[in-house]
Amino acid sequence: MNFTANKLLLFGATGDLSQRMLLPSLCALHSEGLLPDGMQIICTARSEYSDEEFRNFARDALGRFLPPGRDIKVDPFLQILSYQDLDASTPEGFDALAQKVGAIGTEENEGLSIFLSTAPFLFEPTIKGLAANGLTTGNVRIGLEKPLGTDLESSCEINDAVASAFPEERIFRIDHYLGKETVQNLLALRFANIMFEPLWNAAHIDHVQITVAETVGLESRVGYYDGSGALRDMVQNHMLQLLALVAMEPPTSFDATAIRDEKVKVLRALRQTEAGETVTGQYRAGAINGEAVPGYDEELGKDSDTETFVAIKGHVDNWRWKGVPFYMRTGKRLPQRMTEIVVQFRCIPYSIFEGRGAKTVPNQLVIGIQPRENIRLSLMSKVPGLDREGIRLRATPLDIAMPDAFAGPERRIAYERLLLDLVEGDQTLFVRRDEVEAQWEWIDAIRANWTENELKPKTYTAGSWGPSASIALAERDGVTWHEG
Ligand code: BG6
Repeated sequence: MNFTANKLLLFGATGDLSQRMLLPSLCALHSEGLLPDGMQIICTARSEYSDEEFRNFARDALGRFLPPGRDIKVDPFLQILSYQDLDASTPEGFDALAQKVGAIGTEENEGLSIFLSTAPFLFEPTIKGLAANGLTTGNVRIGLEKPLGTDLESSCEINDAVASAFPEERIFRIDHYLGKETVQNLLALRFANIMFEPLWNAAHIDHVQITVAETVGLESRVGYYDGSGALRDMVQNHMLQLLALVAMEPPTSFDATAIRDEKVKVLRALRQTEAGETVTGQYRAGAINGEAVPGYDEELGKDSDTETFVAIKGHVDNWRWKGVPFYMRTGKRLPQRMTEIVVQFRCIPYSIFEGRGAKTVPNQLVIGIQPRENIRLSLMSKVPGLDREGIRLRATPLDIAMPDAFAGPERRIAYERLLLDLVEGDQTLFVRRDEVEAQWEWIDAIRANWTENELKPKTYTAGSWGPSASIALAERDGVTWHEG
């Protein structure tokens, strides 16, 4: 039976993610009346706060991180928050937490959703503590924030620990990219329009590019990031999910099982990369938008071999995509924040215009995920004129800017959607165990390849598009990275 949880238990409630994303998202949902009536949110972390002190903490975070321009009421939301301090690494304290949570009903409109936004080493003891105190049975489901391990083995350990207390249909693994409107719109673009699907294959598509560029550096995440690097921080999850949505076969319905079945097939069809198909980089001091920024080693305070940039030429070995490279790149301290997918179509088979001196360039579909949210299809058009010296053609964009096309609805934080789905029990936008494990398998093989070939990141200047080898990776195939 599915249930709508009327209680939410938030672990890691004082952490960065909670302050920036979770509390603001929950507050926005509450303010719009989207959370169930009588909803209670029990927050927990190590710090000792009374309910009132935590509400003040939350008020302060909301003051800093609520999205501007939206009419969101804070005070009524604060009233549904309570707090219990807990050191989740030890069993003590879980009984007090269970008391704070109180009774968990068994009806359709009752239950508990738990969200773990903590360091992964706390997942196992937390699950044990929850299980020992009756917080895993019946109407209880659990949401897990990344990173879910650092490789396949550690990810399996986490998945096993969670599976010891929760069946898969009550486990919600977050990839916040799936909560982004523009990412969900990929499904609409592909499967609610007739004109793309017949062309969406190796016969008509030359290659695909996926770029997730960031201007930020290490931020305050020194410990985590240096142990992770761009491949595990961004490619293993967000970029592979984007790739899966682009490459998947049409699912039979808009339903969690059907969609995840198709995504996992793509992830399993990823071919292992060879030496020369990946490039890694680490930024050095430079400037972004005219502002000087330090190098990674300076921010870190020591030398490191962690990559802050990675570019990959990937392949999906199946009938649809045979021979179509998927170029992916992501990096910190690149010149602009930009996430986009480029679908580059092939040349027309024969041009009737060539004899009249006009060149055609292949069509291109650019899907802007952020910050520009748009769909831009370049089409060849005739340049108006008498053409006495020959016809002129030019690639002209058909450009749908989402904020213009949908002026009404507010732009939501990705977590609003995901937290609501967690409360309501819809797994469609969450990652299933087999997906995560297929993702890790591919990533582990890349890392093994790096170790074998003693690959060290090449340096790049902050504010550039990464090491020149990344440009060469694409150019060798006659491909130019699309730059915004
Ligand atoms: C997180 C990564 O998962 O995604 C961060 O850990 C990264 O390093 C962030 O900055 C990017 O998310 P968004 O939504 O800003 O593109």
